[in-house]
Amino acid sequence: MNHTSIPETLRFESGQLLLIDQTRLPDEVLHLACSSVDQVHDAISRLVVRGAPAIGIAAAYGVCLAESGSRKSYIAAMDFLATSRPTAVNLFWALRRMRETLLRCESDFELADVLINEARAIHDEDREMCRDIGLEGAAVLKNCKRVLTHCNAGGLATSMRGTALAPIYQLHENRHSIEVFADETRPLLQGARLTAWELSQAGIPVTVLTDSMSGSLMRGGQIDAVIVGADRIANNGDVANKIGTYPLSILADYHNVPFYVAAPTSTFDPELPNGDAIPIEERARSEISHAGNRLMVPQEARVMNPAFDVTPAKLITGIITEKGVLQSPITSIQSDFLSVKSEKTD
Ligand code: MRU
Repeated sequence: MNHTSIPETLRFESGQLLLIDQTRLPDEVLHLACSSVDQVHDAISRLVVRGAPAIGIAAAYGVCLAESGSRKSYIAAMDFLATSRPTAVNLFWALRRMRETLLRCESDFELADVLINEARAIHDEDREMCRDIGLEGAAVLKNCKRVLTHCNAGGLATSMRGTALAPIYQLHENRHSIEVFADETRPLLQGARLTAWELSQAGIPVTVLTDSMSGSLMRGGQIDAVIVGADRIANNGDVANKIGTYPLSILADYHNVPFYVAAPTSTFDPELPNGDAIPIEERARSEISHAGNRLMVPQEARVMNPAFDVTPAKLITGIITEKGVLQSPITSIQSDFLSVKSEKTD
């Protein structure tokens, strides 16, 4: 099998977390080295590293950078990193794993090694998850040639080939001809800057659209399926993802285009009954009011900048996970997920 080149989003080496600085793409491919908890917190908040699984991995490594290396400082690092962004549940999932690992470890001498091993395990599992979602999703999209995606749920949002883009990479490796339409994804342009960049690096044809174009393309029969990632999935299957995902799901439903979500089970939050309970991050006014240094919105006007919206489960054709595909109608992640596991072990 021909292996597609995928950028290494994050790497922990010589006591530093090295991140591709995603705020600089596609102009420059620069790395940022973080050697303190504060730097990792800042990198997550500023979207140097972003995308739900990548945020979780970065935070897990971030804990290992706690200055004195004492139990107290590791716990303080976990509490602080948990304030870096509110919506992607993978952040809290990874920090919970780190906390449970700390609590299980009885020896203070071994603590640093035990924590770095857990962070590496989270990172390794993410690579496997990307591969498995790729295989599951490639089977789902096997008859599709033109796929639309929103934001970036690719290698840059994970440790390897992403969630929503993993099936695309897999199909490309299988020599299936596939073309991607990437919504530019206002206001920070993760689709135009990041999805288009990483797919181009891999030699996969990609066309960037403004966010308002997708309806016309669907109406013209130019889109075979939509596939997006997720930041948090509530127990009833409602999905929080980048702002603009919800209207896309309505357009897909209206035009009978299948609408898939690809996400690892670490993005499930079975404690939340439905999407209304998902905390939605509100980001800075300046992300909308300015383009670079140029003012785009008069000072007197108010601006709204929620980073995510919620797509109701009933508009989702299927959720592609590393453990299998949850097909519509999705009613309870908890029980659907358990039934997927038992099907696989039967
Ligand atoms: O604000 P971002 O860039 O972190 O938003 C990312 C998304 O919305 C992704 O679609 C989601 O995290 C899934 S990443 C596999």
